[in-house]
Order: sequence, then C-alpha cells, then structure tokens
Amino acid sequence: TMFTPRFPEGFLWGGATAANQVEGAYDVDGKGLSIQDVMPKGIVAPRTERPTPDNLKLEAIDFYHRYAEDIALFAEMGFKIYRFSIAWSRIFPLGDETEPNEEGLAFYDRVLDELEKHGIEPLVTLSHYETPLHLAEAYDGWTDRRLIGFYERYARTVIERYGHRVKYWLTFNEINSVLHAPLLSGGINTPKERLAPKDLYQAIHHELVASASATRIAHEINPDIKVGCMVIGVPIYPLTPDPRDVLACLKADHANLAFSDVHVRGEYPGYFLRTLAEKGVELDIAEGDLATLKEHTVDFVSFSYYMSVCDTAAQAAGQGAGNIMGGVPNPTLAASEWGWQIDPIGLRIILNQFWDRWGKPLFVVENGLGAKDELIEGPDGPTVEDDYRIAYMNDHLVQVAEAIADGVEVMGYTSWGCIDCVSASTAQMSKRYGFIYVDRDDDGAGSLARYRKKSFGWYKELIASNGATL
Ligand code: BG6
Repeated sequence: TMFTPRFPEGFLWGGATAANQVEGAYDVDGKGLSIQDVMPKGIVAPRTERPTPDNLKLEAIDFYHRYAEDIALFAEMGFKIYRFSIAWSRIFPLGDETEPNEEGLAFYDRVLDELEKHGIEPLVTLSHYETPLHLAEAYDGWTDRRLIGFYERYARTVIERYGHRVKYWLTFNEINSVLHAPLLSGGINTPKERLAPKDLYQAIHHELVASASATRIAHEINPDIKVGCMVIGVPIYPLTPDPRDVLACLKADHANLAFSDVHVRGEYPGYFLRTLAEKGVELDIAEGDLATLKEHTVDFVSFSYYMSVCDTAAQAAGQGAGNIMGGVPNPTLAASEWGWQIDPIGLRIILNQFWDRWGKPLFVVENGLGAKDELIEGPDGPTVEDDYRIAYMNDHLVQVAEAIADGVEVMGYTSWGCIDCVSASTAQMSKRYGFIYVDRDDDGAGSLARYRKKSFGWYKELIASNGATL
C-alpha cells in the first residue's frame, strides 16, 4: 500500500543557521572575537593565533547587514520558524564582563522585528560553536567552572531581553560533539591530543549544569518558554550480527546518549558513571549541581541528522568521513561528495528510538545535503537545478512522516543552512546546503548576491501544502 505522508497542523517548517556561519561583521559594533575567528579551516587544521584573511567566517554571507533581505526570502518560502544563534561575543565581547554590549543586543532586536513582521517564529540557540575567544584562551573554555557563571549571565541577559518574543530556546548546539571537537564545541583551547580525560569530563559536567541553569532562568523569566537540548543524532549500526559488534554500538550510542539522558532524566546514567570510573576520572561536583540537573530538565529534545554510521569491535575497521563524529562506513549506503553517508530511513529509526527512550517532543533542527552547486542562467535569472538536494530532503521528510505515523511527536523541521553559508567542519563556501544560493566562493570572491535555487520553489510548495506534496 502507498504511504501518504501527513504532518500535524501547526508543524513548524523552517530553516536553520548559526551566527558564525552567516553573520560576518566579526569585529563590528563592539563584537569580540570568537573561537571561529581563529578557525579558518574549521576542524580540519589547527587554529590560528589571530584572525587571518583566508577565514571566510569573518565576512561569511554578511547576514549582519542583509538579514532583512534574507528573512524576506525565508518568508517567501512560507517559513513558520527560523532557527538562528546569538553570537555570545556580540553580547559579551570577552565573555567575562559584567555589562553587556548594547549594540550587540540591538542587532538581535532588529532580527526579531523582521521575523515578527513576517510572522516567523524564532528558535534561538544560545551557544552554537562560537565561544568568546577570551574564554578559550584565559580559562581553557568549559574545563573551568567559572564558565557556568559567565554563561548564566549571558543567558539571563538575552532571555530577559528577548524572552517575551522568543518561545523556543536551545542551550548548546550538538552538546555531545565536545567528545570529538573540544575547541569547536567546548571552547577548550588545549589540543585534543593533550586534553586529559578529567578536563574533558569536567567540561561536560560544567556544560550540563549550565544548560540546566539556563533552563531554570528561562522558565523563571517566562513560564511559557520551551527549552530544548540539542545533540548530534547519529544512528550507529552493527557492521555484522556478531554480538560484539552490537555491544560496540551500544557503547558508542551510550557515549552520545549520556548528554540527552541527563537533560531529560536529570541524572547521570549508570553506564556514564562506569565510563568515568574506567577512565579514572573523579568529577568535581559542587553542592547543588545534582539538584540543578534534577530539577531543570528540558521541555523537548532537538537534534541534527545528516547520516548514520556503523561500528564494530574489530580493530582493523577503517574510519569514514562524517558529521564531526565520523564512524565505520556502511557498505549498503551511498555518500555525499564529502563522504557523509545518506540514510533517510535512519531518521525514522532515530526519531523512534528517541521517542521510545524519553517520550519528549522531538524537533529535527538540522538536516540537509552539503553539495557543490552550479549556477546557471534560468528563465528568471541565475539559479541552480539542485534536484539532488530536493531528492535528499524529500526522502528524509517522508521518513519524518513515517515516524509521525509511528506515533512519534515531532514539533518541526528546520533544514540546515537554508541559505548557503560557511560550512562548520571544513569552513568552505562550496559545501552548500541552501535553498538560496549566495555568490561567494572558497577564495572569498563574489558579489554576495542571493539567487533562488530550484529547491526554493519545491520547499515553498511543500510548506504551503503542509507536506502533502512529498
Ligand atoms: C552541524 C552543525 O554539525 O552540522 C552546523 O551544527 C554545521 O553548524 C552542520 O554547519 C553541517 O556541517 P558542515 O561541516 O557540513 O557545515
């Protein structure tokens, strides 16, 4: 029988970006440096001492000055919601000041005004891979307990300012990625190879307490606010039916799930305590920390979904490319030009797993295909015939509908990089995700003009039909 995709009324269709990947204006209106300003190659090469001209994020796609035009294009597609992040270092340029930077705050007032004008709901990420650089250099990022206080001050400042008009908040982007990319994710300046397990797990504890604390602050300021955690969602399949492979997957899953288990259930799971013991890590837990975790759990769980991976207990297995985590390649799946394996069914699987585990509303806040696009001259001006992107999103959204039919509560779907932006892992412009093409290349050249791709019209029809045109 044919499956007819159905989405609930009020399903939040939209797109997602992050400040450091779109805004540019890295030193404008009092903004301080963030870690991204010294990461010209993402996570594929070490950071630099100072900002360097090859760093595409310094200008990015100049959303800082073009937000009105961009939001108008989102509105033309019919977006119900737009996920973006606040650049922490626009608000607290160093991160450890007591007074915020008013010009930074005013920028997000303008963005929110524009969204309101078009009836688009905001979904705001407090920390999306853009820790103030000073906090990385002077404190080694989240390894230092004082980060909790700085983050609380930042969270209170922005939630007091915008909390009457922003209902949905996320505390940390892909919080579980700190295991794989400590600088990007945790502002930890010590190179990964030299980072002691104790410091890594202490940083995780600080982030989890800060996340719970921000949830408390948000609910105090406005009880209607819904706060979510945000994790990398990657199904991990056993490479063979060997029980040792299945167990390897369970362990790899646990490493990821620990973060959302704490966010949802409010306590450290037994398997996590075992990991700490095996690594010889004794966490410093301050009085009140465990109560904070227990009392201020999240309202929903959000995640990014790009791919699945395999795992095996066998030593010899090769590592594939992928969404920060990487993993053992799956022989049954094709991959993107960047080696990320394409697995729409995995999205249905993980939605069901998360729902079965927590019974909390779920939000797919990132999904999409990073691909090279070719700009061609169309009847209405320059465009891209991105049928490959349409196919990717269509197939994934069919699986979201399947999960909804399975009984999973899904709040919405915001595709990643709804407008082309600088990629996170490799810091390229040529890895494009958008419905909107931005004229800029990997050398930084280009007019920054925006053009509608074929997927723009596809998504517009899809939203207008609430998913019926899949
Ligand atoms: C997620 C991040 O890891 O994946 C985004 O939250 C990122 O910031 C996205 O852009 C896609 O990854 P990439 O490396 O292709 O930009």
